[in-house]
Amino acid sequence: MSSDRLNLREEYQKRQIQEILDQLDKDLVGLVPVKTRLKEVAALLLVHRLRKSLGLTSSNPNLHMSFTGSPGTGKTTVALKMADVLFRLGYIRKGHLVTVTRDDLVGQYIGHTAPKTKEVLKRAMGGVLFIDEAYYLYKPDNERDYGSEAIEILLQVMENQRDDLVIIFAGYKERMDEFYESNPGLSSRVANHIDFPDYSPEELLIIAKQMVEEQQYRLTDESANVLLDYIKIRKEYPHFANARSVRNAIDRARMRQANRMFNAGNKVLTKADLVTIQPEDILKSRLFTGQD
Ligand SMILES: Nc1ncnc2c1ncn2[C@@H]1O[C@H](COP(=O)(O)OP(=O)(O)OP(=O)(O)O)[C@@H](O)[C@H]1O
Ligand SMILES: [Mg+2]
Repeated sequence: MSSDRLNLREEYQKRQIQEILDQLDKDLVGLVPVKTRLKEVAALLLVHRLRKSLGLTSSNPNLHMSFTGSPGTGKTTVALKMADVLFRLGYIRKGHLVTVTRDDLVGQYIGHTAPKTKEVLKRAMGGVLFIDEAYYLYKPDNERDYGSEAIEILLQVMENQRDDLVIIFAGYKERMDEFYESNPGLSSRVANHIDFPDYSPEELLIIAKQMVEEQQYRLTDESANVLLDYIKIRKEYPHFANARSVRNAIDRARMRQANRMFNAGNKVLTKADLVTIQPEDILKSRLFTGQD
């Protein structure tokens, strides 16, 4: 080491961490606690790197995580960003995200689970392994379930290879809490718990506007009001999936908009016609009409 003066800011900029975090701020509406945690992790890793470059020893930070929240709250999106941040900070070599569920890890017959789990781990090495609906790994009512074999292998890797693989366990909050309670060994190895709150209707409307804009459409003030009503009703229906439901609603509104113009026959269309989602394109949803 030629100098023992290090510039934290400089290092931060060099690795373009600020850019990713700014982009994340822009892309993701709300989720303030999630964004804060991501920044904290970035700061911790940066300091760890600088310490290491001065020969100061400390064990690698434990970065295994738990993402809890309802469907469509942004867990997968944030996991992708997290993988990118960890890669840029040199914590993992490749920075890719491998998403799996129980069926990818656990076999049907004796002797099938270990090879399956190891294969997945091999694929994920150097990146982030995202285990969706992780509680299905453990079936408390079945003593001979092969899921526990997969958990054992994950535990070993989490302990021994933690500098080149980060595991994220994801799923609904309540079920994940039960899962950790039944697996204390696992729970103690997951240091970062991040909860993704449900979005308010107002946040979902902002998300909707952002999605509409991305696709080069626009909402009139009146269609935005109608969409907000739609969101409030949809929220109370079964299988509501936050931002994902909003994306689907917009896709269907686009379809109705196209049909409306098509049915208008030979009318000359302006650019404004082509980009504008009218209130009726949303009002024709079966949520308002009671039929499809
Ligand atoms: N805060 C947000 N701002 C803007 N778009 C968002 C936000 N959260 C989610 N989205 C969008 O909603 C969609 C669903 O998000 P994502 O797949 O990350 O959710 P998830 O929590 O992983 O859902 P699931 O549990 O169903 O897998 C994506 O298209 C994503 O871009
Ligand atoms: Mg997801």
